[in-house]
Amino acid sequence: MSTLNQTAQALVAQGKGILAADESTRTIAKRFEKIGVTSNPDSNLAYRKMLFMTPGIEQFISGVILYDETIRQEIDSQSVPAYLQSKGILPGIKVDQGIVEMVTIGLDGLQDRLTEYKNLGAKFAKWRAVITIDEEDAHIEENAESLARYAALCQEQDIVPIVEPEVLMDGSHDLEKCKEVTTKVLRIVFEKLKEHKVALEGMLLKPNMIISGKDAQVQASAKEVAKATIDTLKEVVPVEVPGIVFLSGGQTPDQATENLKELNLIGGPWQLSFSYGRALQEETLAAWAGKDENIPAAQKAFLERAQKVSEARSV
Ligand code: 13P
Repeated sequence: MSTLNQTAQALVAQGKGILAADESTRTIAKRFEKIGVTSNPDSNLAYRKMLFMTPGIEQFISGVILYDETIRQEIDSQSVPAYLQSKGILPGIKVDQGIVEMVTIGLDGLQDRLTEYKNLGAKFAKWRAVITIDEEDAHIEENAESLARYAALCQEQDIVPIVEPEVLMDGSHDLEKCKEVTTKVLRIVFEKLKEHKVALEGMLLKPNMIISGKDAQVQASAKEVAKATIDTLKEVVPVEVPGIVFLSGGQTPDQATENLKELNLIGGPWQLSFSYGRALQEETLAAWAGKDENIPAAQKAFLERAQKVSEARSV
């Protein structure tokens, strides 16, 4: 088995999934604002340390996606990646540099940054492209091309690329529309991955589920979401891809858990796992509220949610 395939398989090992803790400086500041905490490198680390140090979390979490700031920080005099590895958790890194006019940027100098991240301990990476329904056609091609170039650069250095083309849930569209756009997007992404000779067995796909728009009057049930999602993926995702790690994208923790359970009840030729940010963190963030005395309760909330999501994989 190649190193890439080995890492990809480890990330989607039975009962485990990925914690996305790679919020950008701006995003974490927004999340902290809601709980009355000022974001700075120290408070960001205090919060993330609490997540990573949660006793027992390694039973449910195979990997953590870090932000550039965090991969350079320390826990107990160890680098954050070394600390995670000591718990049996693989460190990963977000390498895109955000979105400008609906196109994700970050290819400039990426090769050198990947070398640096590899030396810092990163075993896998993430690049997120965003597609808005109704404006989808404008930038799919360009975003897909960048995703493929990023993935190829990662694999040159034995870093597993997580390829994330996210069709946003914003809007009042129905399930069918989400299915149509997601199918189109994924088809183009896999064409580009092929063009750039990305090894499918050494990558993971991080897609949105097929769900109704956030503002749609009729919200599809978890069973409908699961069926539409599996149908879509079967049409466009090659079986060589070892795992699909869904994003939560604004679903509540319960929705993201229930939908993952229904997806696994249907099943597919790939591991069906998670790479959740908000759905794993929402409850723990609220319980913490920036206070040291709340850490035990916040860690309990995090462990409980991680266990529920993990169990949703093992139905
Ligand atoms: P959400 O689960 O909050 O969508 O975050 C996952 C992620 O990493 C987005 O890039």
